[in-house]
Amino acid sequence: MTDSTTTPDSAPPDHPGHSRPVRLYGPRIAKDPDALYAALRREYGPVAPVLLDGDVPAWLVLGYREVTHVTGNPRLFARDCRRWNMWELIPDDWPLMPYVGWTPSVMFAEGAEHRRRAGAIGDALDAVDRTELTNICVAAADRLITAFSAEGCADLVEQYALRIPLQVIARIFGMPEDEIPELVRDIAESLDVGEKAMAAHRRVHARMARLVHDKSLRPGLDVPSQLLRHPANLTQEEIVIDLLVVMAAAQQPTGNWIGNTLRLMLVDERYSVTLQGGRASTKEALSEVLWETTPTQNFIGRWAVHDCVLGDQPIAGGDLLVLGFAAANNDPVVSPVRRPAEGPEANRAHVSFGHGEHGCPFPAPELAEVIARTSVDVLLDRLPDVDLAVRPDELRWRPSLWMRGLFALPVRFSPAALDDLVPFDPTGADPDDDADD
Ligand code: HEM
Repeated sequence: MTDSTTTPDSAPPDHPGHSRPVRLYGPRIAKDPDALYAALRREYGPVAPVLLDGDVPAWLVLGYREVTHVTGNPRLFARDCRRWNMWELIPDDWPLMPYVGWTPSVMFAEGAEHRRRAGAIGDALDAVDRTELTNICVAAADRLITAFSAEGCADLVEQYALRIPLQVIARIFGMPEDEIPELVRDIAESLDVGEKAMAAHRRVHARMARLVHDKSLRPGLDVPSQLLRHPANLTQEEIVIDLLVVMAAAQQPTGNWIGNTLRLMLVDERYSVTLQGGRASTKEALSEVLWETTPTQNFIGRWAVHDCVLGDQPIAGGDLLVLGFAAANNDPVVSPVRRPAEGPEANRAHVSFGHGEHGCPFPAPELAEVIARTSVDVLLDRLPDVDLAVRPDELRWRPSLWMRGLFALPVRFSPAALDDLVPFDPTGADPDDDADD
């Protein structure tokens, strides 16, 4: 590490070619991310010198044009982290290691090898039937709501939003029903630190290896079976590690997309007015969240292949660039196109799903939207008088500059017995229409 005595309160150290950097960690920094990005833009322009945990230097790319330039030019800014010129500063237990530790997965593959892996993932995901996906999601949402519907109160982040994506992914992976609760427990445990977390991570890996092996013997229509029969000829090891990436890539961002959208719809009058019949506005709220409080705020990242200049900053070959998706979405250069029209039509010019070769692969954003929209709609349908149980200013964002999500979203509603609940119809048909049939 640069200096084991470094504390977030000591003066930030300069590194060659990287002067007056700003610490991108510490207790205060994540309090108001949008104000932070605006201040950095004023001070440095579209690319700011920053220090990551332990004062490790990197560049934060804040400009919309610069983010799309970096992500759109993989020959200049590449994905293989082994290029990094700072490895000698990084201890094994560095807090950001999960983002930079090389694995032989699609995440760090480049060029033709990346196209082979990402292409297969895209094709396997595209084979997921959208109606079936909606039905899986409705069933998962129903189960979760049923668990708390009699209470009259719930935390929609912990008890709902963050739980749905994994429940859905496990099913499109064709995982046996009786193994899903254990998978969910292990994933939660693996996000902790220490030996227990490592053991949970090993169990998740072993379970995925078993799943892929079983599918090779008894193939179905699920995602692992599609990958096994794909002409890219992936090995079982490649499939296992890429399925783990897909699961991790889907879990938190989709969970926070659901949570941030429910928050917006509960705190903002434009949505709460239409909450009861708010089906039309869910799409608009989902889109607004991607512009205003996007789940993946900043992402590590890309590594410069050669020395170059970006946003007037001298970037050295091997430097790490952190992609500032939230800042780029709010760059004044894109403000004219941000939300040109009020209405449910989404403006997709944001970079919330990344951009270029390594962006969130087609059709993952579409599947994520089906999961998020269905989760929000089912909840509003089941609990029509749902309301915040605290004042909006009491809601607390997690102090992270990586994922944007709330600690909790406490709500109250009229307690309902399961028998009182009208089955949710994903087609949106009015149940009273055929009441006489
Ligand atoms: C069904 C849900 C999802 C799946 C299966 C999924 C899958 C993936 C995968 C496999 C990658 C790695 C791509 C590569 O390295 O080639 C990726 C990247 C990414 N995803 Fe997703 N994702 C999902 C939902 C989301 C959501 C909801 C968001 C945010 C709103 C998101 C944002 C991103 C971003 C920012 C990247 C990195 C882009 C870059 O490096 O340029 N994803 N996703």
